[in-house]
Amino acid sequence: MNDMLIRSMQGDYRVHFDESIYEWLNRNLHLQSDVFYLVDAQVLELYGEKLELIASNPVYAIEASERSKTLEGVTGFIDWLLENRATKSSTIVAIGGGVVQDIATFTSHIYYRGIAWQFVPTTLLSQSDSCIGAKCGINVLPHKNQIGVLHSPKAVYVVAEFLRSQSDAALRSGFGEILKLSLTGQYQFFSEFQDHLTGCGISPTNVLPMIQASLRSKQAIIEVDENESDLRRVLNYGHSFGHALEAATDNEVSHGIGVLFGVDLINYLGTKWGITPYDLYSDVNALIRTYFGSENLPKRLSATQLIDEVRRDKKNSNGMMNFVVLRGVGDLVIQQVQLDESLTEAVQEYLNAHAVFLTA
Ligand SMILES: NC(=O)c1ccc[n+]([C@@H]2O[C@H](COP(=O)([O-])OP(=O)(O)OC[C@H]3O[C@@H](n4cnc5c(N)ncnc54)[C@H](O)[C@@H]3O)[C@@H](O)[C@H]2O)c1
Repeated sequence: MNDMLIRSMQGDYRVHFDESIYEWLNRNLHLQSDVFYLVDAQVLELYGEKLELIASNPVYAIEASERSKTLEGVTGFIDWLLENRATKSSTIVAIGGGVVQDIATFTSHIYYRGIAWQFVPTTLLSQSDSCIGAKCGINVLPHKNQIGVLHSPKAVYVVAEFLRSQSDAALRSGFGEILKLSLTGQYQFFSEFQDHLTGCGISPTNVLPMIQASLRSKQAIIEVDENESDLRRVLNYGHSFGHALEAATDNEVSHGIGVLFGVDLINYLGTKWGITPYDLYSDVNALIRTYFGSENLPKRLSATQLIDEVRRDKKNSNGMMNFVVLRGVGDLVIQQVQLDESLTEAVQEYLNAHAVFLTA
């Protein structure tokens, strides 16, 4: 599969695609000197033998938890880099999901005022979405992703083999984000994604073309707008209510499932606002029900709880929220909406009679 070139204000970089860890290692990565590995401890346990070659370089294993993704977690890694004499010309190679990515991005941005890093994403979510775009978020617990920097990697290596050990829940979460990107991208990708689900379902089988299509969809947005502003806001499609659901369930719902809930709910509201065509809402709703419908919400939720969470969103201002609404595939508009009683009623109506995920 062809590489992708991502244009970035901080220097362009390539995304490479390989089926196996062996193929990736054959790209001579392990021969690089002055490389310091930051590896998800679980990935190291699962793939330790196959990753044996990297062990000739210093390896820092970290638990991929939200507690690690804090200033304390970053400090532990920096102490280790200093002890192991990493210099301004060293490279960090991060192997893991979004947690490892965020720690690597933040650390490489501040270590000696910035060093190079490369990323080998190992979760479907990080392979199909977060691995490009340069962003990171570090937690100031209990608040998630409160601080961050932009620091793009020098290269990204997507290796499909890592997905074999992903749980069903992690795959569903990743495919949820891919579904969102198929709606923000070109129509062709949306129909290919429908065909892909029909043929392969929620599994890692033949997934690389879908990952690449997702990244192309995101690339089209971030290359124009690398910083979080206008065009990039489109990527928040499904995220306002998705984040609200994640928060209201104490993160018992995975990110991708939160996004799908948010996509379905905003599509429903979009039909009421005369923006989203009913047939499109219905097609997307059917896709979510068919492939993700077995998902249950951990508890019953009220519209008031969800709207309260949306009010806490950093993007809310003066009781107004800019929702990203689907007008057609690849055509999204920003709708400014008052977080008032009539919105609460519409959301409650959705929860009562139309919600795509139900409580257990
Ligand atoms: N920087 C960004 O642009 C961005 C975007 C979205 C999300 N994020 C952040 O990413 C994090 C979520 O990342 P994620 O969902 O990729 O996963 P993760 O890094 O949170 O890891 C989730 C779990 O999967 C395990 N794991 C990783 N790879 C595995 C594999 N191949 N097989 C089996 N288990 C594996 C980890 O050990 C961990 O237990 C959140 O902290 C979120 O805030 C960042």
